[in-house]
Amino acid sequence: MGKVISIANQKGGVGKTTTSINLAASLAVLEHPTLLIEIDPQSNSTSGFGIEAQSVKNSVYEVLVNGVDVADTIKNTELPFLDVVPAHINLVGAEIEMIERSKRENILKSAIAEARKKYDFVIIDCPPSLGLLTINALTASDSVVIPVQCEYFALEGLGQLLNTIKIVRQHLNTELEIEGVALTMYDTRTRLSNQVAEEVQRYFGDKVFESVITRNVRLAEAPSFGKPVILYDSISVGSKNYLALARELIMRNKSMFKDSPVFAAKSAGGVS
Ligand SMILES: Nc1ncnc2c1ncn2[C@@H]1O[C@H](COP(=O)(O)OP(=O)(O)O)[C@@H](O)[C@H]1O
Ligand SMILES: [Mg+2]
Repeated sequence: MGKVISIANQKGGVGKTTTSINLAASLAVLEHPTLLIEIDPQSNSTSGFGIEAQSVKNSVYEVLVNGVDVADTIKNTELPFLDVVPAHINLVGAEIEMIERSKRENILKSAIAEARKKYDFVIIDCPPSLGLLTINALTASDSVVIPVQCEYFALEGLGQLLNTIKIVRQHLNTELEIEGVALTMYDTRTRLSNQVAEEVQRYFGDKVFESVITRNVRLAEAPSFGKPVILYDSISVGSKNYLALARELIMRNKSMFKDSPVFAAKSAGGVS
């Protein structure tokens, strides 16, 4: 049974999609079967894997609104351990169409119940809002990773996200945890990045991942080639940063794999 993790922050441009694509790809490279589900109408995770809109017959919209089986939306990727449930711009209409439904917050959770059994990790790339799509993601998730951009006002708006997580926990998903906070676009040359990192650490303590994602142009370039950074430039800093983040996430969850003989080999560094 895969662990479902939302990548959420209602601020745009903080690195949700970059983290979703590259964390999912890194988990897959480390031989953990992973499913990336995009629920952002912008479809940047989808195009980031070179999946073209016209090739998408069924997307997450059809799953949420028409009850199409998730299995009928899955796209394979160049990475054998990674599959993608694509999004399409038509998803902009989904929240309105879902509003009349009973248990409208639980639609995604029910939809992925079967599919998640086939993966170790299910990563959900959330849109930049706290609307019904993000609520569906949080309700369907075991935990949430919050990317925080190392910039001015980094913590601004996080209160709203934490409040939403609290409300979801109270009413929809008592098990929801904060998996961790990922510092993104860290610039080693500026004091500002250090200050933001310290402030986030003061606030979130050991929830902050030790693996920091530095600013790296390869991460910004890779999507236009339809590839995660690890396939675009495997020796780049961005590639190393996201592999380190994936390893840290796996180690934080090693109890999930304690019975897996493969895990012992993997965590011993069998795959680099
Ligand atoms: N570590 C990084 N280094 C350089 N550019 C980055 C990095 N992380 C994200 N970006 C770029 O910043 C922009 C916003 O990132 P994105 O992941 O799309 O954010 P979100 O999904 O939160 O809106 C994109 O153009 C992306 O390529
Ligand atoms: Mg995004």
